[in-house]
Amino acid sequence: MGQVIALAGKGGTGKTTLAALFVRIIKEKKLGSVLAVDADPNSNLAEVLGLEIKESISSILDDLASHPQSVPVNMGKDAFIEYRVQTAIAEGDNFDVLTMGRPEGPGCYCYVNNALRNVMGKLVKDYDFVVIDNEAGLEHLSRRTTGQTDILVVVSDATVVGLKAAKRIAVLTRELGLKTKKDFLVVNRCEKAIDKEKIRGLSLELLGVLSTDPEIEGLSLDGHSLFKLNNNNVTLTALGKLGDRIWHCN
Ligand SMILES: Nc1ncnc2c1ncn2[C@@H]1O[C@H](COP(=O)(O)OP(=O)(O)OP(=O)(O)O)[C@@H](O)[C@H]1O
Ligand SMILES: [Mg+2]
Repeated sequence: MGQVIALAGKGGTGKTTLAALFVRIIKEKKLGSVLAVDADPNSNLAEVLGLEIKESISSILDDLASHPQSVPVNMGKDAFIEYRVQTAIAEGDNFDVLTMGRPEGPGCYCYVNNALRNVMGKLVKDYDFVVIDNEAGLEHLSRRTTGQTDILVVVSDATVVGLKAAKRIAVLTRELGLKTKKDFLVVNRCEKAIDKEKIRGLSLELLGVLSTDPEIEGLSLDGHSLFKLNNNNVTLTALGKLGDRIWHCN
């Protein structure tokens, strides 16, 4: 069973950036096979990892809803969805990416959500690590579309608003009874040492503090993949060390 690492936090704090860097570190340290899951309907994880999205789970489900006759007669609907999802996985160099996308169809998402949960439950068994980039906010936690999370990494900036959002995520995780092994906090784009008083009582263990990285800013401005970051980049190196508390967490 793979280790599921899920990123959460307020909008624009660095969830996608950190998810992509985790994938790169797992790959380059040869820690095991890794699937990156973009669970944000406003998808951009594949792009940040330098891959093109072929198809999203949502587009497959929408397609199936409007063309129910496309399910082969000798195959059940769930088996067909599973097959189509396998073909939607974009393959990178020693990592895979699955994009959930935004369902377009009208009405109830229950079926979509159930299908996502089933698919995730099966995929987790095929990889050593699954890194999930979630949308901002709390929706994904209560919908539980991404299934079991082992390590929750909440990303925040150093602002009171960002840290309040982080606290809400930690509280909701507990209220929902999500059985994570560890809930970490990363304070990103923080130029000074973090005031410990500000993070006391968040029920999150501080994984680390990262500052604004001009190299990341430059790649983002030009729409380049984070695989273009230099091997000795400070953020990459710092996260590689901080990640030891994630990879070896039982
Ligand atoms: N440590 C950093 N140094 C410099 N730029 C950063 C850093 N972390 C994130 N960024 C930049 O900040 C912007 C927002 O980051 P990112 O997209 O990762 O946030 P997000 O939490 O995924 O946002 P959203 O909630 O919209 O999905 C991006 O342009 C990214 O390149
Ligand atoms: Mg994002």
